[in-house]
Amino acid sequence: MIELKNVERSYKTGHTETWVLRRIGLTIKEGEFVTFMGPSGAGKSSLLNVLALLDDGWLGEYWFGETPVHSLNRKQRADLARQRIGMVFQSYHLLDDLTVAENIDLPLSYKNFPAKERQGMVADILDRFQIVAKKDLFPSQLSGGQQQLVGIARAVVHAPALLLADEPTGNLHSTQAREIMELFCQLNRAGTTIVQVTHSEENARYGKRIVELRDGWHTRDEPLPAKPTPEKTTPEKTTEVGSK
Ligand SMILES: Nc1ncnc2c1ncn2[C@@H]1O[C@H](COP(=O)(O)OP(=O)(O)O)[C@@H](O)[C@H]1O
Ligand SMILES: [Mg+2]
Repeated sequence: MIELKNVERSYKTGHTETWVLRRIGLTIKEGEFVTFMGPSGAGKSSLLNVLALLDDGWLGEYWFGETPVHSLNRKQRADLARQRIGMVFQSYHLLDDLTVAENIDLPLSYKNFPAKERQGMVADILDRFQIVAKKDLFPSQLSGGQQQLVGIARAVVHAPALLLADEPTGNLHSTQAREIMELFCQLNRAGTTIVQVTHSEENARYGKRIVELRDGWHTRDEPLPAKPTPEKTTPEKTTEVGSK
């Protein structure tokens, strides 16, 4: 589904050029659930932004299926992203002056769906994510976990083939984080290819493969054994410890 060949990215500040992605070669197959790990500054977000088509300043080849992204212009890249990709951010990136339902509708408004059909799609996803009761609230009226549910609903409402998530539970409590990870597993089982960035070993175990980056280099790539089903793990007692 995705193939990167020799992808490189650098930033120029004054006279110095800093390389943040070095000759990245990476193949991601349809249906995979991949986790990017590595120290802060390793290039994880930079690589995810390349995959998300949010960045134009890289070199090398990027194949999205049969499409050579490296040969597309900016408008063609934006169209491809709108059709095929959903992105989830650590800090949610919801629009504060839009309601939950309006936030989720936003990616659909970029497509040429009739309004009726859009309403149906938004209603469906509100239902699937069990946030129907929140649909007319504004983001500031929701908890972090609820805001991230909305962030994910917005990212997947147009049924993207690829879901990208940059530290999606970085601002959440462990119980909320687990809920989000379970949701990712459901989406992945339903066929969505997922690439997440996380610092959490526990979150990483929901995925099926770990890609490690260090100083912009792709240093490790390993499959993960299937996560044990929840019944088989020892139940953990979780305590809510106030807000973070
Ligand atoms: N817009 C930018 N301008 C200059 N340097 C940047 C920019 N974005 C990222 N970097 C640098 O690129 C490197 C990798 O950053 P990033 O991809 O955000 O790492 P990670 O997500 O793994 O923490 C860091 O050294 C960071 O300072
Ligand atoms: Mg980052």
